[in-house]
Amino acid sequence: MSLLDQIDQIRSTFMEELYSISSSKDVERMRIHYFGKKGTIASLMRFLRDATPEDRPNLGKIINDTKEELSSHLENTQKRLLIQERQHRFAKEAIDVTLPAEPFRLGIEHPVQKVLQEVVAIFSSFGFSVGLAPDLDTEHYNFTGLNFAEDHPAKDMQDTFYFPKDYLLRTHTSNVQVHLMENQKPPMKIIAPGKCFRNETVSSRSHVFFHQIEGFYIDQNVCFTELLELMRAFWPKLFGTKVKVRFRPSYFPFVEPGLEVDIACTQCQSQGCKLCKYTGWLEVAGAGMIHPNVLDQAKIDSEVYQGYAFGIGVERIAMLLYGIEDIRTFSRNDPRVFEQVALKYSSVL
Ligand code: DAH
Repeated sequence: MSLLDQIDQIRSTFMEELYSISSSKDVERMRIHYFGKKGTIASLMRFLRDATPEDRPNLGKIINDTKEELSSHLENTQKRLLIQERQHRFAKEAIDVTLPAEPFRLGIEHPVQKVLQEVVAIFSSFGFSVGLAPDLDTEHYNFTGLNFAEDHPAKDMQDTFYFPKDYLLRTHTSNVQVHLMENQKPPMKIIAPGKCFRNETVSSRSHVFFHQIEGFYIDQNVCFTELLELMRAFWPKLFGTKVKVRFRPSYFPFVEPGLEVDIACTQCQSQGCKLCKYTGWLEVAGAGMIHPNVLDQAKIDSEVYQGYAFGIGVERIAMLLYGIEDIRTFSRNDPRVFEQVALKYSSVL
Protein backbone atom coordinates (compact mmCIF):
# COMPACT_ATOMS: atom_id res chain seq x y z
CA MET A 1 0.00 0.00 0.00
CA SER A 2 1.33 3.46 -0.88
CA LEU A 3 2.07 6.06 1.79
CA LEU A 4 -0.92 8.15 0.75
CA ASP A 5 -3.29 5.15 0.89
CA GLN A 6 -1.93 4.25 4.26
CA ILE A 7 -2.40 7.84 5.48
CA ASP A 8 -6.01 7.88 4.22
CA GLN A 9 -6.73 4.72 6.16
CA ILE A 10 -5.09 6.04 9.30
CA ARG A 11 -7.00 9.30 9.02
CA SER A 12 -10.38 7.60 8.67
CA THR A 13 -9.86 5.22 11.63
CA PHE A 14 -8.43 8.14 13.62
CA MET A 15 -11.49 10.32 12.94
CA GLU A 16 -13.89 7.51 13.66
CA GLU A 17 -12.19 6.85 16.97
CA LEU A 18 -12.07 10.55 17.76
CA TYR A 19 -15.84 10.90 17.36
CA SER A 20 -16.56 7.93 19.53
CA ILE A 21 -14.44 8.80 22.58
CA SER A 22 -16.07 10.50 25.57
CA SER A 23 -13.35 11.37 28.07
CA SER A 24 -10.04 13.18 28.24
CA LYS A 25 -8.48 9.88 29.37
CA ASP A 26 -9.38 8.39 25.94
CA VAL A 27 -7.62 11.35 24.32
CA GLU A 28 -4.43 10.47 26.19
CA ARG A 29 -4.73 6.87 25.08
CA MET A 30 -5.14 7.98 21.44
CA ARG A 31 -2.21 10.39 21.73
CA ILE A 32 0.11 7.52 22.73
CA HIS A 33 -1.36 5.17 20.16
CA TYR A 34 -0.94 7.57 17.22
CA PHE A 35 1.85 9.95 18.20
CA GLY A 36 3.93 7.90 20.63
CA LYS A 37 7.50 6.77 19.85
CA LYS A 38 6.23 3.43 18.64
CA GLY A 39 2.90 4.81 17.46
CA THR A 40 1.09 4.73 14.13
CA ILE A 41 2.68 7.92 12.77
CA ALA A 42 6.17 6.77 13.80
CA SER A 43 5.56 3.55 11.87
CA LEU A 44 5.15 5.59 8.67
CA MET A 45 8.85 6.43 8.88
CA ARG A 46 9.62 3.14 7.21
CA PHE A 47 8.35 4.72 3.96
CA LEU A 48 11.20 7.25 4.27
CA ARG A 49 13.79 4.53 4.74
CA ASP A 50 12.65 2.79 1.54
CA ALA A 51 12.27 5.98 -0.51
CA THR A 52 14.82 7.45 -2.89
CA PRO A 53 16.75 10.47 -1.60
CA GLU A 54 14.86 12.77 -4.03
CA ASP A 55 11.41 11.62 -2.79
CA ARG A 56 12.41 11.65 0.85
CA PRO A 57 11.86 15.37 1.68
CA ASN A 58 8.45 15.30 0.01
CA LEU A 59 7.31 12.17 1.85
CA GLY A 60 8.69 13.55 5.09
CA LYS A 61 6.60 16.69 4.63
CA ILE A 62 3.46 14.62 3.92
CA ILE A 63 4.00 12.60 7.13
CA ASN A 64 4.63 15.77 9.15
CA ASP A 65 1.58 17.55 7.76
CA THR A 66 -0.54 14.50 8.56
CA LYS A 67 0.81 14.41 12.09
CA GLU A 68 0.03 18.11 12.58
CA GLU A 69 -3.45 17.77 11.08
CA LEU A 70 -4.41 14.82 13.24
CA SER A 71 -2.90 16.22 16.42
CA SER A 72 -4.76 19.50 15.96
CA HIS A 73 -8.02 17.48 15.75
CA LEU A 74 -6.99 15.69 18.91
CA GLU A 75 -6.24 18.99 20.72
CA ASN A 76 -9.66 20.38 19.81
CA THR A 77 -11.41 17.27 21.04
CA GLN A 78 -9.31 17.40 24.20
CA LYS A 79 -10.46 21.01 24.87
CA ARG A 80 -14.09 20.16 24.21
CA LEU A 81 -14.02 17.16 26.52
CA LEU A 82 -12.27 19.06 29.32
CA ILE A 83 -14.95 21.76 29.17
CA GLN A 84 -17.67 19.11 29.22
CA GLU A 85 -16.08 17.35 32.16
CA ARG A 86 -15.74 20.60 34.10
CA GLN A 87 -19.39 21.50 33.45
CA HIS A 88 -20.38 18.08 34.60
CA ARG A 89 -18.38 18.48 37.83
CA PHE A 90 -19.85 21.95 38.48
CA ALA A 91 -23.34 20.63 37.96
CA LYS A 92 -22.67 17.93 40.54
CA GLU A 93 -21.17 20.38 43.05
CA ALA A 94 -23.83 23.04 42.58
CA ILE A 95 -25.68 24.18 45.71
CA ASP A 96 -29.36 23.55 45.79
CA VAL A 97 -30.65 26.75 47.32
CA THR A 98 -34.11 25.29 47.70
CA LEU A 99 -32.94 22.76 50.32
CA PRO A 100 -33.83 23.58 53.95
CA ALA A 101 -30.93 25.41 55.69
CA GLU A 102 -28.78 23.93 58.46
CA PRO A 103 -30.05 25.09 61.86
CA PHE A 104 -28.25 28.35 62.73
CA ARG A 105 -27.48 29.25 66.33
CA LEU A 106 -28.10 32.93 66.88
CA GLY A 107 -26.03 34.75 69.47
CA ILE A 108 -27.73 35.80 72.66
CA GLU A 109 -27.56 39.13 74.42
CA HIS A 110 -25.25 39.08 77.43
CA PRO A 111 -27.21 39.57 80.68
CA VAL A 112 -24.76 42.27 81.82
CA GLN A 113 -25.29 44.12 78.56
CA LYS A 114 -29.03 43.85 79.00
CA VAL A 115 -28.88 45.38 82.47
CA LEU A 116 -26.56 48.16 81.29
CA GLN A 117 -28.96 49.03 78.50
CA GLU A 118 -32.01 48.87 80.72
CA VAL A 119 -30.45 51.07 83.43
CA VAL A 120 -29.28 53.61 80.86
CA ALA A 121 -32.76 53.63 79.29
CA ILE A 122 -34.39 54.35 82.67
CA PHE A 123 -32.01 57.20 83.49
CA SER A 124 -32.40 58.60 79.97
CA SER A 125 -36.12 58.79 80.66
CA PHE A 126 -35.19 60.85 83.76
CA GLY A 127 -33.30 63.34 81.56
CA PHE A 128 -29.75 61.99 81.88
CA SER A 129 -27.44 61.79 78.85
CA VAL A 130 -24.66 59.25 78.37
CA GLY A 131 -21.03 60.16 79.04
CA LEU A 132 -17.88 58.03 78.84
CA ALA A 133 -14.28 58.02 80.07
CA PRO A 134 -11.29 55.74 79.40
CA ASP A 135 -10.78 52.35 81.09
CA LEU A 136 -7.03 52.99 81.10
CA ASP A 137 -6.70 56.21 83.02
CA THR A 138 -4.41 58.07 85.41
CA GLU A 139 -4.15 58.41 89.17
CA HIS A 140 -5.48 61.95 88.83
CA TYR A 141 -8.83 60.93 87.32
CA ASN A 142 -9.32 57.76 89.34
CA PHE A 143 -8.22 59.06 92.77
CA THR A 144 -6.73 62.51 93.24
CA GLY A 145 -9.41 64.42 91.33
CA LEU A 146 -11.99 62.59 93.45
CA ASN A 147 -10.57 63.90 96.72
CA PHE A 148 -8.69 60.74 97.69
CA ALA A 149 -5.79 61.83 99.94
CA GLU A 150 -2.34 60.69 98.79
CA ASP A 151 -2.16 58.11 101.57
CA HIS A 152 -5.86 57.32 101.65
CA PRO A 153 -6.47 53.71 102.68
CA ALA A 154 -9.13 53.43 99.96
CA LYS A 155 -6.28 53.38 97.45
CA ASP A 156 -5.10 50.12 98.97
CA MET A 157 -8.64 48.96 99.55
CA GLN A 158 -9.35 49.23 95.84
CA ASP A 159 -6.43 47.07 94.91
CA THR A 160 -5.42 48.69 91.69
CA PHE A 161 -3.76 47.43 88.49
CA TYR A 162 -1.00 49.99 87.99
CA PHE A 163 0.89 50.55 84.74
CA PRO A 164 4.04 52.53 83.95
CA LYS A 165 3.87 56.32 83.56
CA ASP A 166 1.14 56.91 86.10
CA TYR A 167 -1.41 54.82 84.22
CA LEU A 168 -3.87 52.47 85.90
CA LEU A 169 -7.00 50.53 85.06
CA ARG A 170 -9.86 52.47 86.57
CA THR A 171 -11.18 50.89 89.73
CA HIS A 172 -14.58 52.56 89.39
CA THR A 173 -16.56 54.55 86.85
CA SER A 174 -16.34 57.64 89.08
CA ASN A 175 -13.39 58.79 86.91
CA VAL A 176 -16.06 59.91 84.42
CA GLN A 177 -17.03 62.67 86.84
CA VAL A 178 -13.54 64.24 86.80
CA HIS A 179 -13.13 63.98 83.02
CA LEU A 180 -16.50 65.54 82.25
CA MET A 181 -16.32 68.21 84.96
CA GLU A 182 -12.99 69.35 83.49
CA ASN A 183 -14.42 69.48 79.97
CA GLN A 184 -17.98 70.68 80.38
CA LYS A 185 -19.85 73.35 82.24
CA PRO A 186 -22.86 72.76 84.51
CA PRO A 187 -25.69 72.00 84.29
CA MET A 188 -24.60 68.40 83.70
CA LYS A 189 -26.81 65.37 84.06
CA ILE A 190 -24.82 62.32 83.05
CA ILE A 191 -25.13 58.55 83.18
CA ALA A 192 -21.93 56.61 82.43
CA PRO A 193 -21.87 52.82 82.00
CA GLY A 194 -18.47 51.11 81.86
CA LYS A 195 -15.93 48.48 82.86
CA CYS A 196 -13.86 48.59 86.04
CA PHE A 197 -10.91 46.55 87.23
CA ARG A 198 -9.66 45.56 90.66
CA ASN A 199 -6.82 43.31 91.62
CA GLU A 200 -8.97 40.99 93.69
CA THR A 201 -9.05 37.26 94.19
CA VAL A 202 -11.61 35.85 91.79
CA SER A 203 -14.46 34.06 93.56
CA SER A 204 -18.16 33.47 93.08
CA ARG A 205 -18.84 37.00 94.38
CA SER A 206 -15.95 39.12 93.09
CA HIS A 207 -14.02 39.38 89.89
CA VAL A 208 -11.06 41.33 88.56
CA PHE A 209 -13.28 43.06 86.01
CA PHE A 210 -16.87 44.10 86.34
CA HIS A 211 -19.22 46.89 85.34
CA GLN A 212 -20.56 49.96 87.06
CA ILE A 213 -22.89 52.74 86.12
CA GLU A 214 -21.96 56.15 87.38
CA GLY A 215 -24.47 58.96 87.46
CA PHE A 216 -24.19 62.58 88.50
CA TYR A 217 -26.06 65.84 88.33
CA ILE A 218 -24.49 69.25 88.83
CA ASP A 219 -26.43 72.52 88.79
CA GLN A 220 -27.37 75.41 91.04
CA ASN A 221 -29.61 74.47 93.96
CA VAL A 222 -29.27 70.69 93.69
CA CYS A 223 -30.24 69.23 97.02
CA PHE A 224 -29.88 65.96 98.91
CA THR A 225 -33.57 65.10 98.80
CA GLU A 226 -33.46 65.14 94.99
CA LEU A 227 -30.90 62.37 95.14
CA LEU A 228 -33.03 60.37 97.56
CA GLU A 229 -36.11 60.87 95.37
CA LEU A 230 -34.18 59.76 92.29
CA MET A 231 -33.06 56.59 94.04
CA ARG A 232 -36.58 55.88 95.24
CA ALA A 233 -37.90 56.36 91.70
CA PHE A 234 -35.23 54.29 89.96
CA TRP A 235 -35.15 50.91 91.73
CA PRO A 236 -38.84 50.07 91.31
CA LYS A 237 -38.43 50.64 87.56
CA LEU A 238 -35.78 47.93 87.49
CA PHE A 239 -37.05 45.45 90.10
CA GLY A 240 -40.79 46.13 90.00
CA THR A 241 -42.99 48.43 92.02
CA LYS A 242 -42.98 46.26 95.15
CA VAL A 243 -39.26 46.72 95.80
CA LYS A 244 -38.36 48.48 99.05
CA VAL A 245 -35.44 50.93 99.15
CA ARG A 246 -33.48 52.13 102.18
CA PHE A 247 -30.48 54.42 102.75
CA ARG A 248 -27.56 54.03 105.13
CA PRO A 249 -24.94 56.67 105.89
CA SER A 250 -21.56 55.73 104.44
CA TYR A 251 -18.24 57.23 103.50
CA PHE A 252 -16.70 57.87 100.07
CA PRO A 253 -14.02 60.58 99.74
CA PHE A 254 -15.76 62.23 96.79
CA VAL A 255 -19.15 62.78 98.41
CA GLU A 256 -20.38 64.46 101.57
CA PRO A 257 -22.70 63.28 102.96
CA GLY A 258 -22.30 59.80 101.52
CA LEU A 259 -24.72 56.93 101.67
CA GLU A 260 -25.32 53.41 100.55
CA VAL A 261 -28.54 52.28 98.91
CA ASP A 262 -30.06 48.92 99.83
CA ILE A 263 -33.07 47.15 98.40
CA ALA A 264 -35.11 44.57 100.30
CA CYS A 265 -33.74 41.15 99.43
CA THR A 266 -35.46 39.98 96.26
CA GLN A 267 -34.89 36.34 97.16
CA CYS A 268 -36.44 36.18 100.63
CA GLN A 269 -38.57 39.36 100.69
CA SER A 270 -36.53 40.64 103.65
CA GLN A 271 -37.03 37.46 105.68
CA GLY A 272 -33.29 36.77 105.76
CA CYS A 273 -31.47 34.25 103.59
CA LYS A 274 -27.99 33.26 102.46
CA LEU A 275 -28.02 35.79 99.61
CA CYS A 276 -28.61 38.79 101.90
CA LYS A 277 -26.46 37.25 104.65
CA TYR A 278 -29.59 37.10 106.81
CA THR A 279 -29.87 40.91 106.93
CA GLY A 280 -32.94 41.10 104.67
CA TRP A 281 -31.23 43.81 102.57
CA LEU A 282 -28.93 43.94 99.55
CA GLU A 283 -26.54 46.78 98.88
CA VAL A 284 -26.98 48.00 95.31
CA ALA A 285 -25.40 51.47 95.06
CA GLY A 286 -23.24 54.13 96.65
CA ALA A 287 -24.27 57.76 96.44
CA GLY A 288 -23.94 61.22 97.96
CA MET A 289 -23.57 64.94 97.44
CA ILE A 290 -20.46 65.70 95.41
CA HIS A 291 -17.70 66.94 97.71
CA PRO A 292 -16.91 70.67 97.21
CA ASN A 293 -13.22 69.75 96.79
CA VAL A 294 -14.09 67.65 93.72
CA LEU A 295 -15.98 70.54 92.13
CA ASP A 296 -13.31 73.10 92.96
CA GLN A 297 -10.48 70.92 91.66
CA ALA A 298 -12.33 70.72 88.33
CA LYS A 299 -12.74 74.53 88.41
CA ILE A 300 -16.46 74.44 89.10
CA ASP A 301 -17.26 76.98 91.81
CA SER A 302 -18.66 75.01 94.74
CA GLU A 303 -20.13 78.23 96.18
CA VAL A 304 -22.40 78.43 93.13
CA TYR A 305 -22.92 74.79 92.12
CA GLN A 306 -23.85 71.62 93.92
CA GLY A 307 -24.30 68.12 92.70
CA TYR A 308 -25.10 64.57 93.59
CA ALA A 309 -23.50 61.38 92.34
CA PHE A 310 -24.17 57.66 92.52
CA GLY A 311 -22.50 54.46 91.44
CA ILE A 312 -24.32 51.21 90.71
CA GLY A 313 -22.69 47.76 90.51
CA VAL A 314 -24.03 45.99 87.44
CA GLU A 315 -23.09 42.31 87.90
CA ARG A 316 -24.79 42.24 91.28
CA ILE A 317 -28.02 43.42 89.73
CA ALA A 318 -27.79 40.98 86.82
CA MET A 319 -27.25 38.17 89.35
CA LEU A 320 -30.33 39.22 91.30
CA LEU A 321 -32.51 39.72 88.24
CA TYR A 322 -31.52 36.48 86.52
CA GLY A 323 -30.89 34.20 89.48
CA ILE A 324 -27.20 33.75 88.61
CA GLU A 325 -25.24 32.65 91.66
CA ASP A 326 -21.65 32.90 90.43
CA ILE A 327 -20.21 36.11 89.00
CA ARG A 328 -17.79 34.03 86.89
CA THR A 329 -20.77 32.89 84.80
CA PHE A 330 -20.64 36.27 83.05
CA SER A 331 -17.07 35.89 81.85
CA ARG A 332 -17.40 32.19 81.00
CA ASN A 333 -19.66 33.40 78.23
CA ASP A 334 -21.43 30.11 77.61
CA PRO A 335 -24.29 31.00 75.23
CA ARG A 336 -26.25 27.93 76.40
CA VAL A 337 -26.38 29.35 79.95
CA PHE A 338 -27.42 32.78 78.70
CA GLU A 339 -30.07 31.18 76.52
CA GLN A 340 -31.54 29.38 79.53
CA VAL A 341 -31.43 32.60 81.53
CA ALA A 342 -33.15 34.50 78.73
CA LEU A 343 -35.87 31.86 78.45
CA LYS A 344 -36.50 31.63 82.15
CA TYR A 345 -36.52 35.37 82.71
CA SER A 346 -37.88 36.63 79.42
CA SER A 347 -40.51 38.52 81.38
CA VAL A 348 -37.99 40.31 83.62
CA LEU A 349 -36.30 42.66 81.15
N1 DAH B 1 -17.11 54.62 93.11
C1 DAH B 1 -17.71 53.90 94.21
C2 DAH B 1 -17.21 52.45 94.23
O1 DAH B 1 -16.65 52.02 93.29
C3 DAH B 1 -19.22 53.89 94.08
C4 DAH B 1 -19.80 55.24 94.32
C5 DAH B 1 -20.14 55.60 95.59
C6 DAH B 1 -20.00 56.12 93.29
C7 DAH B 1 -20.68 56.84 95.86
C8 DAH B 1 -20.56 57.35 93.52
C9 DAH B 1 -20.90 57.71 94.83
O2 DAH B 1 -20.76 58.27 92.55
O3 DAH B 1 -21.45 58.96 95.06
O4 DAH B 1 -17.40 51.78 95.18
